[in-house]
Amino acid sequence: MALERTFAIIKPDAVEKNTIGAVLAKTEEAGFKVRGLRFTHLSRAVAEGFYAVHKARPFFGELVEFMTRGPVVVMVLEREDAVAQWRTLMGATDPKKADEGTLRKLFGANVGENATHGSDSLENAKIEIAYFFAASDVAPGV
Ligand code: CMP
Repeated sequence: MALERTFAIIKPDAVEKNTIGAVLAKTEEAGFKVRGLRFTHLSRAVAEGFYAVHKARPFFGELVEFMTRGPVVVMVLEREDAVAQWRTLMGATDPKKADEGTLRKLFGANVGENATHGSDSLENAKIEIAYFFAASDVAPGV
């Protein structure tokens, strides 16, 4: 297994529920090293740009509305096989279908308000990290 970095977001619903610390604790317990961390409130333009791949989807407006309704935490997470391991820790997109103990099961409410985001590939992780972080705000490494 290769050492990788993935990009993650603690979404507005999880921030509103005061669960930033709980998500971070689970993240570190699962072996991830936090290599970049920033608290930010996404503008409409930033959210639309980030989710541009979903622009044609019927839920795009709802998704942008939700992601801009309050602040989020954006993170760079590192461990072996980070992209797949973070997606396993998050659980299924729909918290109702997520396994027990996963972040979305614990902290999410529905398919829209699902507590966390994670990159779906190593290639997209690099793009998403660069979208939110200057190189100087990420620990040197992988
Ligand atoms: P995320 O991993 O952030 O990437 C795209 C997001 O779209 C996804 O998580 C979901 O939160 C959201 N999403 C997917 N399907 C729906 C849906 N049917 N309604 C609202 N949001 C959705």
